[in-house]
Amino acid sequence: MSTKVVIGAQWGDEGKGKTIDILAAKSDVVVRTSGGNNAGHTIEADGITYKLHLMPSGILNPGTLNIIGMGVVVDPKVLLEEIDGMECQGISTKNLKIDARAHVIMPYHIALDGLSEAARGKGDIGTTKKGIGPCYMDKTERSGIRMCDLINPEKFKTMVHENLKIKNKIIELVYGGTPFDENEIIEEYSAYAKRLAPYVTDTTPILYDSIKAQKEVLFEGAQGILLDIDLGTYPYVTSSHPISGGVCVGSGIGPTMIDECIGILKGYTTRVGNGPFPTELDDEIGEKIRQNGHEFGTTTGRPRRTGWFDAVIAKYAVRTNSLTSIVLNKIDPLGGIGKIKICTAYERNGVLINDFPPTLEELAECKPVYEELDGWTEDISDIKDFRLLPPAVQKYVHRIEELCGCKISSIGVGPGRDQNIDL
Ligand code: GDP
Ligand code: IMO
Ligand code: MG
Repeated sequence: MSTKVVIGAQWGDEGKGKTIDILAAKSDVVVRTSGGNNAGHTIEADGITYKLHLMPSGILNPGTLNIIGMGVVVDPKVLLEEIDGMECQGISTKNLKIDARAHVIMPYHIALDGLSEAARGKGDIGTTKKGIGPCYMDKTERSGIRMCDLINPEKFKTMVHENLKIKNKIIELVYGGTPFDENEIIEEYSAYAKRLAPYVTDTTPILYDSIKAQKEVLFEGAQGILLDIDLGTYPYVTSSHPISGGVCVGSGIGPTMIDECIGILKGYTTRVGNGPFPTELDDEIGEKIRQNGHEFGTTTGRPRRTGWFDAVIAKYAVRTNSLTSIVLNKIDPLGGIGKIKICTAYERNGVLINDFPPTLEELAECKPVYEELDGWTEDISDIKDFRLLPPAVQKYVHRIEELCGCKISSIGVGPGRDQNIDL
């Protein structure tokens, strides 16, 4: 039995939900540790498509305990909608636990997300406008409301009052927005609190005891490493830690309790939102990949920007997350697009760059160095054995493995549970 961390190793949407769902069948516990409902994790099971935002992706497996750790920011309304949606489809949520320390996304966070983005004008980040950044700001500013406060009626009232004194001033006087009514918020959120209270607990002893009891524990990453507040393409990032190191602070365990770190990559690269993207394809091939891979945001519906596989990013992911293996999803959408390119390094002012640069200024001067490989035209979505894949697919996967310097354990050839091929 082991503890496995599963993280997105690009800019998110690498197929983490699918991979977690596959691994959850063999897991006792699945834990979300960062982000909030900016995440959109898709699972296709038994002909039904589930889009999960806050609910850990182990929920479809009846025997799995699902934990929302203290690193997650929780929008109670969204979580209740997900709980109701699951229960309506006959999926029990009795195995869900929310850590008492997790911070709550309040309506003023959502408003401030929109207002601050609008104020940035052309320099906007392209956030999901779900209130993520403003909620984490309150957390680090030490004025945030946590799940334990939400379910404590007297404390909640006082905290809403104190917060609104400041927030309403910022909303009105800085941004010219509409202030919030204290009583309306208290009434609405007290109803959410009543319903969510049975799920709220201290999850840390449960997790610790599960690991000590040699149970199979899976940490479900959200977003991707290039959206990390420290290691990502700052400021075009999210406000949390999607890297493997974020798992410890987001769940309350120490690093010695982690056995494996699995990085999820796509066979190409995508990004939603603004910011640099060295291998971006702003042409017909990029459009073809978008259509073949249905690259439209799970949370916002925005078309995802598409580009070639970038091995500089993949190597950065391997190094900064101590990856022990890679799952390479979405190989199938590359079929029928002709020759395929891999970015093996960057070139900057005549110098070859192998390490992903720390500043946007350096990154802007980097030009991708490409290697061209043969493509394929066959439909590979029903193939179950790696050796039966067209030689060009096998060569593509092996070349990526070689460039990353990390074992690829499985590849994805379709969105379904049965569409991953183990290597
Ligand atoms: P996540 O945020 O990392 O969980 O990924 P998303 O769910 O946002 O986006 C991944 C999309 O690709 C979803 O629609 C998945 O159903 C789909 N998907 C996952 N793996 C594969 C694959 O190997 N091939 C294809 N064609 N689709 C896949
Ligand atoms: P999953 O878990 C892709 C992006 C947003 C924006 C930036 C900041 O599905 O992979 P935020 O709302 O977090 O303040 O937005 O981060 N972003 C994601 N992109 N997948 C995600 O999650 C994302 N979560 C946030 O598009 O560029
Ligand atoms: Mg997603």
